[in-house]
Amino acid sequence: MTAPRQTEHPIDPQFTQRWSPRAFTGEAIPEATLLGLIEAARWAPSASNIQPWRFIYARRDTPAWTPLFDCLVEFNRGWAVNAAALVLVMSKKTWLPHGKTEPVPNPTHSFDAGAAWMSLALQAHLAGWPAHGMGGFDRDKARLALGVPSDHVLEAMVAIGRQGDKASLPEALQARETPSTRLALAQIAVEGRYSFD
Ligand SMILES: Cc1cc2nc3c(=O)[nH]c(=O)nc-3n(C[C@H](O)[C@H](O)[C@H](O)COP(=O)(O)O)c2cc1C
Repeated sequence: MTAPRQTEHPIDPQFTQRWSPRAFTGEAIPEATLLGLIEAARWAPSASNIQPWRFIYARRDTPAWTPLFDCLVEFNRGWAVNAAALVLVMSKKTWLPHGKTEPVPNPTHSFDAGAAWMSLALQAHLAGWPAHGMGGFDRDKARLALGVPSDHVLEAMVAIGRQGDKASLPEALQARETPSTRLALAQIAVEGRYSFD
C-alpha cells in the first residue's frame, strides 16, 4: 500500500506528488515533448545567470539511445530499459566573465545544474512523463562515448517515460515502487547556528 506523503507545513501538491517511478511502459516520447521538459530546466535560476547546465538526450529506438544506455550500471539498465528517454545532465565548471579573456571557476555549477534538473523533474511530473534521476552510471565511459569536455562534470542521468504497471518490474523492485518519505523538518533546518546531530 502507498504511504501518504505527509507535510509538516502546507505546500503546493506538486512537490509531494512528484516521485521517481522505475516502471515505464516503453511508449516513445515525441522529441518536442522531451524538449518541453528540458525547456523547463532552461528557466532555472543560476549564479550570474551563467546557466552552467548542459544536457545530452537520447530517445528510445533512435541511434542516440545505446551509447547513453550502455553507460548505466546494471541495476539501472534493468528498469531504465523501458524508459522513453535518457538525459545526461552536465555542468560546466568554468565561465568567461564579461571583459575577461580566460575562463574562471564557477563555484555553483553543480548547485545550479541541480536546480535545472529539479525544474525538469517537476515539469516531467506535470506533463505525465515522470523522471527518475540516476547517479549509477559510468562517468568515464560516458565522457568518452559522448565527447564531453574535461571542464564539464557529468552530474546525473535521468530516465523519463510513461509510468507503467509495477508488476512489470522484478519482484525486489516492486516493493520499492512507491513514493518515499523524508527526514523531519527539524532534522534538516535549524535557526541561526548548526546544531544537528
Ligand atoms: C542525483 C540522483 C541520483 C540517483 N541515482 C539513482 C540510481 O542510480 N538508481 C535509482 O534507481 N534511483 C536513483 N535515484 C532516485 C532516488 O533514489 C530518489 O529520488 C529518492 O529515493 C527520492 O525518491 P523520489 O524521487 O521518488 O521522491 C537518484 C536520484 C537523484 C536525485
